[in-house]
Amino acid sequence: MASGQGDARRAGWDNRYREAEAGSAAAVLADNTHLLPARGLALDLACGLGSNAMLLAGAGLETEAWDYSPVALERLGERARRQGLNITPRERDVEQAPPEPHSFDVIVVANFLHRPTAPDLVRALRPGGVLFYQTWSRARVSDAGPSNPDFRLAEGELLTLFADLQPLLYREESDQGDTRRGLRDIAQLIARRR
Ligand SMILES: C[S@@+](CC[C@H](N)C(=O)[O-])C[C@H]1O[C@@H](n2cnc3c(N)ncnc32)[C@H](O)[C@@H]1O
Repeated sequence: MASGQGDARRAGWDNRYREAEAGSAAAVLADNTHLLPARGLALDLACGLGSNAMLLAGAGLETEAWDYSPVALERLGERARRQGLNITPRERDVEQAPPEPHSFDVIVVANFLHRPTAPDLVRALRPGGVLFYQTWSRARVSDAGPSNPDFRLAEGELLTLFADLQPLLYREESDQGDTRRGLRDIAQLIARRR
């Protein structure tokens, strides 16, 4: 991406984070905390206000939270300090500088999709390390989420992007059955490095 366009996007996130309230941790993580290791180093990638990082640190993991929005990281750092949680926020463009090989026991990605980085995320897991991923799918039953299809997953795409990992959970309900119920508009993957 041209850096002017990248800078404008980043400034847009900064503006949003001056006002936004932190939401809940992603369901893929919050509903499956029993799959976390008892200890180790975790990364909340493209963390925003860092609700996933808060959960990871609360579960006893040493936690890094990476994003390119300094505003989001500042707010996350304050919140973590107030709650006495061990989180290291890092300002980092994760598309330009993805995590190094064999560096994390847990990686969480929520509401962020940069397909070329997928192989880096696989390599960044230590053996036995676990990836928790959740983002918007093109199959949808509401207007929620990004309108640009490039920012949404094709059917089954998380399984393809992370085919080198062992899947532990995959969920994508598409428009099957009673669409007023269930987990719609997103796909979830939990997968482990062998
Ligand atoms: C939709 S938000 C999701 C935030 C958080 N993961 C959540 O689910 O609440 C997308 C995040 O990606 C970050 N982001 C986008 N491109 C990035 C990049 N190249 N490097 C680092 N962070 C990036 C934005 O600053 C924003 O915080």
